[in-house]
Amino acid sequence: MQAAPTRWVPPADHLAPVYAQWSLDVVDAAGVYLHTRDGRQVLDLYGGHAVAALGYSHPRLLAALEQQARTLIFQSNAVPLEVRARAALRLTRFAGLGLNTAFFINTGAEANENALKLALRITGRRKVVAVEGSFHGRTAAAGAVTWGAAQKWYGFPQAPFEVEFLPRGDLGAIERVIGTDTAAVIVEPVQGVAGARDLGEPFLAALRARCTATCAQLIFDEVQCGMGRTGFPFAANMYGVAPDMITAAKALGAGFPCAALLMADHVAAHLRIDDLGTTFGGGPMACALIEAVVDIIESEGLLANVRRLAAQIRETCLVGPVTGVQGAGFLTGLRTRRPAKDVQRELLERDILTGTSADPHVVRILAPYVLEDAHVAQLRDALAALPG
Ligand SMILES: Cc1ncc(COP(=O)(O)O)c(C=O)c1O
Repeated sequence: MQAAPTRWVPPADHLAPVYAQWSLDVVDAAGVYLHTRDGRQVLDLYGGHAVAALGYSHPRLLAALEQQARTLIFQSNAVPLEVRARAALRLTRFAGLGLNTAFFINTGAEANENALKLALRITGRRKVVAVEGSFHGRTAAAGAVTWGAAQKWYGFPQAPFEVEFLPRGDLGAIERVIGTDTAAVIVEPVQGVAGARDLGEPFLAALRARCTATCAQLIFDEVQCGMGRTGFPFAANMYGVAPDMITAAKALGAGFPCAALLMADHVAAHLRIDDLGTTFGGGPMACALIEAVVDIIESEGLLANVRRLAAQIRETCLVGPVTGVQGAGFLTGLRTRRPAKDVQRELLERDILTGTSADPHVVRILAPYVLEDAHVAQLRDALAALPG
């Protein structure tokens, strides 16, 4: 009898050894489940760092991908494309808040890099204020405003501008730290890597007021918390606080790499030909998927689904090792009595994939917006079966 065919797995020796690897051997995925080589079906509540917002193999996403690939796989930004114009229109309408202009790039870090560059140039100032616990990306400017990067991995000999960190949630420090020398304040309204820390409306509204008073640009980094993850188009909509710029990535293409910088009219008014640029940003594939993602979120009522099931997680998952639930929508932090990495491992042993965070006692959940009641019940039952 012939042995069952096994897939050939190339040795990983030629990959840069910069990522710790989970013990998870994924071969493919469908809906909210990953399938492993040894036949397990794993409920994915992490989505590849918040990217797979529509789960896997969503038929309308695949149709958009295939149709655009067949129609026109690429043309540069020098060639005007209908699909690019449509993506910008859909995305800026989705955001509202007077953010009427989109610049498309490729990654979250690149979006933040461009937002910061614009703010520094518009104001002619040299200082950027960020918030303790922040994560904004790995490039020179984005890394400079990322909390703790200099000590951990930054690598550049110096930051490209002056940076000051604001204590998280400290309303009293806002007036002291943000002044007429501040070009920009960059903030994740709900901090992701920090462990799903919702900064709250009073803090964000106070940042808005202070930026307005000092003519500093307020940048909401919604790379992780935006594009529907909070159950609103952006966290800015949830709080009713309009920044001058929003950066988006991750869920924006639901798996296709792309990012966007959304700007208020007074920011866009400063732009001239050649000020910003990228080869791949705004490519037709990315734009077709951005348009499809907005369309799917809106037409399938996924914002309401996120809000409803996020409330269900809050109500039912205070079991086993979980002592609290924090964050907003599907940027959820389960505060755990025991180390989060132990709880994460135990959940994976029970076929549920979650993430951790910079907080050693927070398990981070970045569930797909297409989650169903039964999946929340599966999570609750698994948590309840773990030691407290
Ligand atoms: C809030 C936030 N900003 C920026 C980034 C960087 O995005 P990218 O990895 O696409 O450069 C991340 C990535 O985790 C993030 O969570």
